[in-house]
Amino acid sequence: MGETGAVTTLDTTPAPLHDPHHVDFASDNYAGAHPEVLAALAAANGGHQVAYGADAYTERLQQVVRRHFGQQAVAYPVFNGTGANVVGLQAMLPRWGAVICAAQAHINTDENGAPERVAAIKLLPVPTPDGKLTPELVATEARNFGDEHRAQPGVVSITQSTELGTLYTPDEIRALAEQAHGLGMRLHVDGSRLSNAAAALDLPLRAFTTDVGVDVLSLGGTKNGLLFGEAVVVLDAGAATGIEYLRKMDMQLASKMRFVSAQLVALFEGDLWLRSAQRANAMAARLRAGLDAVPGVSVTQATHVNAVFASIPAVAVERLRERWHFYDWTPGVVRLMCAFDTREQDVDAFVAAVTAEVAALR
Ligand SMILES: Cc1ncc(COP(=O)(O)O)c(C=O)c1O
Repeated sequence: MGETGAVTTLDTTPAPLHDPHHVDFASDNYAGAHPEVLAALAAANGGHQVAYGADAYTERLQQVVRRHFGQQAVAYPVFNGTGANVVGLQAMLPRWGAVICAAQAHINTDENGAPERVAAIKLLPVPTPDGKLTPELVATEARNFGDEHRAQPGVVSITQSTELGTLYTPDEIRALAEQAHGLGMRLHVDGSRLSNAAAALDLPLRAFTTDVGVDVLSLGGTKNGLLFGEAVVVLDAGAATGIEYLRKMDMQLASKMRFVSAQLVALFEGDLWLRSAQRANAMAARLRAGLDAVPGVSVTQATHVNAVFASIPAVAVERLRERWHFYDWTPGVVRLMCAFDTREQDVDAFVAAVTAEVAALR
């Protein structure tokens, strides 16, 4: 009660720590979680469920994954993409094994050596013009089998869609799988952005994985609207051993796994995965078209999925950074990424700002 006798109510609502309407272009993991995913999490809450994966949501996830990838597919939910790659690759190789990958592969450039340090795997990176391996490029490292002095190539790992926003066609993946299998190796796919690839190719997920010989897959969720969560999906049981033990050993075994699985179910049971990826890809296409029309700006890579690589004058880049985050990729080139929640107005505002900043340089 105040002195006048009126009841004083204190507003205890915390002030927001960020602008919930601001959309950046740094990465698709700058985005929040999709409302349908949050609703699925809330629905999975309450009551008790068996911990460590013997819960109803993880069982449902197995059904969903079998529907997408075939009856033999088994999913192992994990916390993040690095974890999915490390667990999957480790399960595919003996202690003396090596992985052939593109030099630009996330496992080689952005996982702080986790495949080497955590999984004790030797990476054999191959420079590529566009982030894509070809049988010819793989052949440069697929050699010295039986030589005790050299780590033994056991896996070829590709990223779909790639770190440079490029895409493998199903035939290109099939050729890599046939080559790998012919040499006694296996094919792994880092599918952190597999949904964006499917949306761009207009194909079901299995058409460029199971059906063309992929053995083990890191199935992405975080970049397409989850709070967190990915899954190692084993497509050929003979390609991976001990994954249950390795997931725990690599600290990727969630005790409350129902909350990882519920998110993945929300994404992949219906068409949320596709809708979200289509939206991100469409916004990147809009961004590219906008930047193509700005004199002095050049887009440096084809725009197939949700990434746009552009050369923008350095002074303009600094000014744009006052309002948006985005990464320098190679000297003079920035990467701009769209997410499931990027809106047309976000893209248009960015393009308008680029246009104005570049014009101001004249
Ligand atoms: C191609 C690719 N693979 C894997 C990851 C896994 O990332 P994280 O461990 O941050 O979830 C990323 C994230 O940037 C990525 O771009």
